[in-house]
Amino acid sequence: MRAVDIIQKKRDGHALSKEEIENFISSYTKGTIPDYQAAALLMAIYFQGMYESEVSELTKAMVHSGETVDLSMIQGVKVDKHSTGGVGDKLTLTVLPIVASLGIPVPKMSGRGLGHTGGTIDKLEAIPGYQTELATEQFIDLVNKNYMAVIGQSGNLTPADKKLYALRDVTATVHSIPLIASSVMSKKIAAGADRIVLDVKCGAGAFMENREEAMTLAKTMVNIGHALGRKTVALITNMDEPLGYYIGNGLEIKEAVDVLTGKGPEDLYELTKTLATYMVMLGKEMSQKEAETLVTDALLSGQARNKLKENVKSQGGDVRYIENTELFLQAKEQTTITAPTDGYIRHIDPKMIGQGAMMVGAGREKLGDTIDHEAGVQLHKKRGDWVEKGDKIATIYHQKQLKKDVLTLVSQAFHWSNHPVSKKPYIYQVIT
Ligand code: URA
Repeated sequence: MRAVDIIQKKRDGHALSKEEIENFISSYTKGTIPDYQAAALLMAIYFQGMYESEVSELTKAMVHSGETVDLSMIQGVKVDKHSTGGVGDKLTLTVLPIVASLGIPVPKMSGRGLGHTGGTIDKLEAIPGYQTELATEQFIDLVNKNYMAVIGQSGNLTPADKKLYALRDVTATVHSIPLIASSVMSKKIAAGADRIVLDVKCGAGAFMENREEAMTLAKTMVNIGHALGRKTVALITNMDEPLGYYIGNGLEIKEAVDVLTGKGPEDLYELTKTLATYMVMLGKEMSQKEAETLVTDALLSGQARNKLKENVKSQGGDVRYIENTELFLQAKEQTTITAPTDGYIRHIDPKMIGQGAMMVGAGREKLGDTIDHEAGVQLHKKRGDWVEKGDKIATIYHQKQLKKDVLTLVSQAFHWSNHPVSKKPYIYQVIT
């Protein structure tokens, strides 16, 4: 089987067979197919797309390109969640403790942030002492004991995805639904998930800016899950403005704890409850109504907050930070931005806010950059709010002198209207 024939077949719009996909992926992972041929195939997929069966075979081939995590020693049905990434997305931190507190095991492997979006591992490391690198046995023991543990992604999972993703990044082929869907799902499956809830973000701060694309991506991932024997549900959710009010690592943990204490903002609270409900429905095979009741009780009783405390303690973190979240507000400097005019907020550009937070140290411009866990941006207002000239609209938390560029970026993220502006729904659609 020659790589050039496989490329030609896809270039001409034909479906690749299971053997052709397996062969290409395993040879590329071993290094016997060079980058230039893989790049050509990626571009052919970008333009021609893939049939459902091809996407499932591609996902399987990527899962088998490296190690898979054997979580069979964890008792019970393991439910995972994945977000396609947004600004201020701290849902893993709010949802996992709820689900774990209901006796559903959530062994979570999370990533770090890059560019304008954050990563759960960076956020958890804002808690002094929190260890995100655990041996597999310790990870499994913790989940068996507490139903919850969070670690960084293992280096040996889905090596084909790592190589292909790096290549996509430099060949303008990242934005392809079959390639995104297989990349995401191969990692979830290799990490040992039995059932999966996907949060597909849609809007100005997301990979998928419009509803049609988000829907196609969600359907493609749900179909992969089903084809590979994993019950999967996808929620298409709004990412037209940052989620919640806080963006930045420690700041986001503070807000996640607020939600678990019943004080969080409406958008984050609503999404937390819905995602947790779908995870509980999958984990306990119960109706939406039954799951919703359990989730609400776990939130209101403080059971979910206690689960987070237990997790922080078990992974070496300082629980005083969960008991007193003001400890996360320790950046040396706080610079306030005020409204330049009276008016309604029409839009807050999430990418600009995420970029501003990154520029003060809350994120990485490139791999390997270090993170300032105390830095970030706090919004005081959201879309639809009426604001008077001079009212506080945002606070930037920083350690060093603030560059004018950051101030300009965060100020210009706010767009104004003289007329009332309606809020957008938090959840657009659920795909099962
Ligand atoms: N996230 C992934 O893991 N893979 C993609 O291709 C895009 C986003």
